[in-house]
Amino acid sequence: MYDGITSGNPINWRTTFSIIIMTDIKSTAPSIGQPVSRLEGHLKVTGAAKYAGEYLVPDLLYGYVVNSTITKGKILKLYTDAVKAIPGIVEIFSHENRPSLAWFNIQYSDMDAPPGSPFRPLHDAEIKYNGQPIALIVAESFELARYGASILKVDYEEEEFTTDLQANLSEARAPKLGLATMLKPLPPKDKGDTDQAIASAAVTASGYFVHGTEHHNPLELFATTTVYEGKGKVTIYDKTQGTINSQLYVGNVFGLHFKDVRVIAPYVGGAFGSGLRPQYQLFFSVLAALSLQRNVRVTLDRSQMFTFGHRPPTLQTTLFTADNNGKITSLKHEAIAETSQHEDYTEVVVNWAPMLYPSPNTTMEYKLVPLDVYSPLDMRAPGGSTGLHAIESTMDDLAHQLQIDPLTLRLINYAERDESVDRPYSSKELRECYLQGAARFGWDQRNPAPRSMKKGSKLIGYGMATGIWEAMVVPARAELILTGEGKLIVKSAVTDIGTGTLTVMSQIAADELGLPIESISFEYGDSKMPFAPIQGGSFTVSTVGSAIKAAGKALRKKLFKIAENIEHSPLKGIKIEDVIFMDGSISLKDDHSNSVPYQEIIKANNGKVVKTKNFNVPNLLKLKKHSRAAHSAVFVEVEVDEELGVINVTRAVTAVAAGRIINPKTARSQILGGMVWSISKALREETISDHHFGKYMNQNLAEYHIPVHADIHELDVIFVEEKDEIVNELGTKGLGEIGLVGMPPAIANAIFHATGKRINQFPIHFEKLLEDNF
Ligand code: MOS
Repeated sequence: MYDGITSGNPINWRTTFSIIIMTDIKSTAPSIGQPVSRLEGHLKVTGAAKYAGEYLVPDLLYGYVVNSTITKGKILKLYTDAVKAIPGIVEIFSHENRPSLAWFNIQYSDMDAPPGSPFRPLHDAEIKYNGQPIALIVAESFELARYGASILKVDYEEEEFTTDLQANLSEARAPKLGLATMLKPLPPKDKGDTDQAIASAAVTASGYFVHGTEHHNPLELFATTTVYEGKGKVTIYDKTQGTINSQLYVGNVFGLHFKDVRVIAPYVGGAFGSGLRPQYQLFFSVLAALSLQRNVRVTLDRSQMFTFGHRPPTLQTTLFTADNNGKITSLKHEAIAETSQHEDYTEVVVNWAPMLYPSPNTTMEYKLVPLDVYSPLDMRAPGGSTGLHAIESTMDDLAHQLQIDPLTLRLINYAERDESVDRPYSSKELRECYLQGAARFGWDQRNPAPRSMKKGSKLIGYGMATGIWEAMVVPARAELILTGEGKLIVKSAVTDIGTGTLTVMSQIAADELGLPIESISFEYGDSKMPFAPIQGGSFTVSTVGSAIKAAGKALRKKLFKIAENIEHSPLKGIKIEDVIFMDGSISLKDDHSNSVPYQEIIKANNGKVVKTKNFNVPNLLKLKKHSRAAHSAVFVEVEVDEELGVINVTRAVTAVAAGRIINPKTARSQILGGMVWSISKALREETISDHHFGKYMNQNLAEYHIPVHADIHELDVIFVEEKDEIVNELGTKGLGEIGLVGMPPAIANAIFHATGKRINQFPIHFEKLLEDNF
C-alpha cells in the first residue's frame, strides 16, 4: 500500500467534507455563479497535494533519460559497459535492448496526434531531432541515474539537417488531412476576388509577422511513477492532461489489457497543452517497470522540458483593404508554420479574420514546412494567439491610415453572423465587451496621434484588440451516486490542470440535486473513472459539465420514481415537472413542506445507493447550424521609456463574453493567467535556435524569459453577460484560452501608439525601438 492510494480512492481527503443532510437545513443557494475558492487550494499551498513524481512508492528505481546531442543521423555505438559497471546502476535501456513493442502507427497514436507517424522512443538507431531521447539509465537513486547519463559516451554518424523555417520557405506545402482536422478546421474557401479588391482599394494595410518557437514550461516537471503490480499490470502516476489518453497509449504500445493499466493524475502543476499527448517519460517509466518488474520513476529536468513539443515558429502575411468609410472590402491572410518530418501538426491561424469582420472578398492560406525538429504541440490558444496578432495589428494599421478610432473600426465591421461559413453565432456579446471594456479602461481619453501622450520621460500608448476562441464540446461521460448519507459522489476520468475543474464540477453537481457543495465528492484524475477526453481546447467545463448534467437529469428521474412509490408519498400522482430537488429532498414546487428526503428514498431503495452514468448529449443539429465562439475585447496601456525603449504594460482590461460563468473567481484567474502570458508572449518569451547545430540554445528558465512580478501591474477582468442556449446545456463557452488571444496584439498596438513604431516580430525587444530613428 502506498499512502493508501493505490488501494483506494486517490482523493480520499474529500470525504472529510461530507456531511449528513438534515431535513430541516436551510435552503441551499445555487452553487453555480458563486466565487467558490479552490477546494484543493489548501492541499496545494501546504504541499499535501501529490504530483506524479512525488508518490511514496517502496523499492523505487529511478530513471534518467539520455538525449541526443546531434540533430540528425545514427547512433553507431553506446558505451554502456562502463556505466553499467557502476554499483547502483541497474540497467540501461536503448534501441539495442528494447523489448518488442507495437508495430503500427495507430498504436502509438493518441487523442491529440496529428496526421503522420508518431515518434517512437528507442525505435532504432536513427536520430530525428536534437534532444531526442536515446537511452534510459535506471539506478537506485536519481542522482546516480543522472550521473550515469552524464558519462554515457555515444558515437554518432551525423547527417545534414535543416531546422530553419525562414531558410526553407520554398518547401512550404498544404498540410495532410487527418482526424485532427475535425477540431482544427482548415482555412475557409476563398470568397469573391481578393486581387481585384486589392487593386481598387481606397486603403490598404499589410504586415509581415514573425513568431518564434515557444516551449511550455509549467512549474511541475514531466514525471511518471509506475508501480509494477504483477505480470502485465501497472498503476501509473503520470503528468498528463488525460488519464485515459495515457492509459490507451500504454495499453497499445506495450500490449497490455486496458483494464490492467490504471493512470492517476489528480493534481497537475500546469501543462498548457504539453500534457495533451503522452510524453516520453511515460514510455520510459513503463518500459523499465515492465522489463525489470520493479517500480520505476522517470522525472525530466528543466532542460529536458525543451526536448518535446513546442509552439511552432510561424510566419504570416496579411493584406486588408477598406473603403473610405472604414468598411472592409477584402481580407488576405497567409501563414507558413513549422512541423516535424514525421507528423503534420496544424493550428487554426488564418481562419479568424472573416469570422470577426465580414468581407465580400477573402483569401486564407495555411502551409507547413517539415523540418528536423520534434513535432510542435498545442500550446495555450494554439493558432489563435498567433493569428489574432497579425489580424488585430493589421486592423490597427487600417484604423490609423483611415484616421478612424480602432474601436470604431471594429464596430463598423462588426459581424452579426459568421460570414466565413454563413451561419449565425449561437450567441455573441462582443459589442458589449467593446463598450464595457472601453468604459472601464477610459479609452475615450486616448489622443489618436502616435507619440502624443506623455508622462515625464515616458511615452504612453493605448492599444486595443479583439479576441476570439471556438466554444467546443466533445463526448464525455459522468457517473453520479447518491448515498444513504445524502452525499453525492461524482466520477469522471478528467484531470484538473490547475484551472479549477474539481471546484467547478462540484458546483455543477451540487445544483443538479440542490445540495450544498460540501455534500459533493468529485472523484477524478483516474482512468478508472468514466470516460473523459484530454483536458484542453477550453472545452472541459462544457464537455464534462454537460455529462454531469445529463447524469443529474437521469438521477433525478430515478429518485423521483422511487419517491413516488413510497407508501403515503406526497408525490403520488404528481408530475416530475411539478417538483423541486432542493435541501436534500424532493418537494412540491408550490408546497415545500410536502417533501421526501433523499435519505428516505435510499431507505426505500433497500438502503442501496442510487446511481446513473451518462454521456453528454450535444444537440448536434442545433450545433451544426451555428458558429460558437467566446469573444473578448482587450485594452492596454503601455509606458515606453523614450531614451531606453524599455516597455512596461502598466494597465490592461480584458472584457470577456464566454457564456455562463460557473465560478467568477476561478474564471477570473483563468483570464488573469492568460493576460500575464500575453505580456510574456508579446515582450519576453522565445526559444532561440542555433540552426548551425539544429539546437535550442536557451533550455532553462534563466534564459527563457518570462515575466516576473515586477512586470505585472493593473490587470482587470470583466465578464459580460451572455446567454447561450445552443452551445450546451450549461451555456458555457470555456475560458482557458480566450485570455491569451487578444492581449498580445493589444500590447503591440499600444506600443505603436506610444512610439509610432510598428514591430511585428514577437517578442518585441526594446532594442528594436532603439533602432533607426526612434
Ligand atoms: Mo490547451 S493548448 O488545449 O491545453
